[in-house]
This record gives sequence, structure tokens and C-alpha cells, in this order.
Amino acid sequence: TRVLVLNGPNLGRLGTREPDVYGSLTLADVTTALEADAPDGVSIELRQTDDEGTIIGWLHEALDTSSPVILNPAAFTHYSYALRDAVSLVTKGGVPVVEIHLSNPHAREEFRHTSVVSGVATGVIAGFGVESYRLALQALLRRS
Ligand code: DQA
Repeated sequence: TRVLVLNGPNLGRLGTREPDVYGSLTLADVTTALEADAPDGVSIELRQTDDEGTIIGWLHEALDTSSPVILNPAAFTHYSYALRDAVSLVTKGGVPVVEIHLSNPHAREEFRHTSVVSGVATGVIAGFGVESYRLALQALLRRS
């Protein structure tokens, strides 16, 4: 099984971006941690884009290849109906998508309290920093 770990806008700057909110670990560190957790036969493919169309294309690919997804939609979480529709077609197609956030958006600004993605995600994990990704992988592994 290949697990796709898809990251939205500004997450390429993880490590130096608002470390008080997001911590000092980078996406490379996330990859290392997930690869260490992955059992034999499970590979991790982490990607990041600032582009909405690109992340939607990756979700279509996840459906076509039956690859479970760990998704940090970043700011797209709060307003992208196009991303929501893409997540919906993947989960309704039987491929799980776990929405994750490093921070707890509910403890932050009002505009972050709404996720247009959560209602069609398989599940949601938020507020545990890089551990949010690791918990999502555990959830996916235990599910299958
Ligand atoms: C985030 C939370 C979002 O509100 C924000 O726009 C991000 C990161 C998180 O991982 O905590 O870019 O998804």
C-alpha cells in the first residue's frame, strides 16, 4: 500500500513558518517520522503544493490508484468547495481520506472554525503538531 500525504499552501515553509503555532519540524521531518512508523509493505509519498488544481489532481490520482490519503488542506480547508468535492469523490469511491491539522483550528481565529472538508473526510485529527500525521497513519493502518 502506498499512503499519499498531501499538503496544501504554505506548508512547504514548515519549520520556519510561525514556529510558535506550527513548531520547528519540517515536511522532511514528517516524511522521516512516517517512514519510521510504516510497517513493511507500506510506503509513504509526501507531496506539497500551493496550487488548488494540483492538490485536486492528486486526490483524483489517489482514487484511481486506491491510495489512502493523509490530507492537510491548510487554508483551503476553510473555503475550497472544489477541494471538498474532490475529497468527497475519493471517500465515496471507497478510498479513505484523513483530514489533519498541526494546530487546533477551533482554538484560533473564527474563520478557521469552519472546515468545508470535514463533512466528507473519513475522519479528522487536529492539534497535535507533527503527531497529527503519525496518528492519521495509525488510524489508516488499523482501519485496513
Ligand atoms: C493548518 C491550519 C489552517 O488553518 C492553516 O491555514 C494552515 C495549517 C494546520 O495544519 O494547522 O495552513 O491546516
